[in-house]
Amino acid sequence: MTHDLPALLEKYRTEVDAQLEQSLPVAEGPAAPLFAAMRYSVLNGGKRIRPALCFAAADALGGHNQNTAKVAAALEMIHAYSLIHDDLPAMDDDNLRRGKPTCHIQFDEATAILAGDGLQSLAFQQLTELEGLSADTVVKLVAMLASLGGCNGMVAGQAIDLAATGQLLNIEQLKNMHTHKTGALIEASVLMGAMATGNATQQQLGALKTYAQAIGLAFQIQDDILDVESSTEQLGKQQGSDIANHKSTYTSILGLEQARSQAAELHQKSLDSLAVFAEQADPLRGIARFIVNRAY
Ligand code: IPE
Ligand code: IPE
Ligand code: MG
Ligand code: MG
Ligand code: MG
Repeated sequence: MTHDLPALLEKYRTEVDAQLEQSLPVAEGPAAPLFAAMRYSVLNGGKRIRPALCFAAADALGGHNQNTAKVAAALEMIHAYSLIHDDLPAMDDDNLRRGKPTCHIQFDEATAILAGDGLQSLAFQQLTELEGLSADTVVKLVAMLASLGGCNGMVAGQAIDLAATGQLLNIEQLKNMHTHKTGALIEASVLMGAMATGNATQQQLGALKTYAQAIGLAFQIQDDILDVESSTEQLGKQQGSDIANHKSTYTSILGLEQARSQAAELHQKSLDSLAVFAEQADPLRGIARFIVNRAY
């Protein structure tokens, strides 16, 4: 199955994009600029890694169904909102995202802030529209997205990132920052994809959590590496932004070589944790490899 990972990622992308297209408000009426900014920031490309992890986790349990795309869309909305706010002048002050002007450049700052707000609440609304699951499961999904996408996860991580700007963190502090700002939503992506099948066992969820935490940290380490060694053209975002902003990153604190070896170790750990699954988890294995080998 991993033989053709690009085709699989494309299939997942098509599925989540159809859901996003349907779920996002049409840009008309008095709030049209807000809706246009939401659509612009979600439908402007992106690797769709979080949706892919959600679909792949559901596939690992043989439970990919009509709810999986809705959960995947909710995760991508939270991600898009986090990027809009991450790029604002008050945060990383970046002008380029996915090869296009960032939301606040294309629209304006107020619209960008509101587009993030709108996407966040639309993500939760999306979860209330799941079908055929027990109320208990839906509440668990909402709670997980709130926690890992919010102040126990991504939002806390972004706050730690800002506080750490210009500081010299130790490795534990650095890991804690990355685990929160990026790892948490990746963990949510895998676990929510599994939970939305309605038949995940505790043992399966435990294995998937270990996989997700390892690959989530590796994802941000690779992001830090690419900020140093890729190009603006390839990344679709400003290369060297971390250095310009005096950010604490795996490369600024450990150097490129150690950052690479940590990512490789985490990749192996993620694969080890999938030992309980047979070939149905090959998509998860393929995505793990993609995460540490990607060039954009
Ligand atoms: C970028 O995420 C922000 C981080 C959490 C590192 P992605 O690299 O997944 O961005 P897109 O969605 O592909 O643009
Ligand atoms: C962002 O991390 C993490 C988010 C939660 C958005 P970065 O600031 O490193 O992401 P990029 O490099 O701008 O995509
Ligand atoms: Mg940032
Ligand atoms: Mg940034
Ligand atoms: Mg980065």
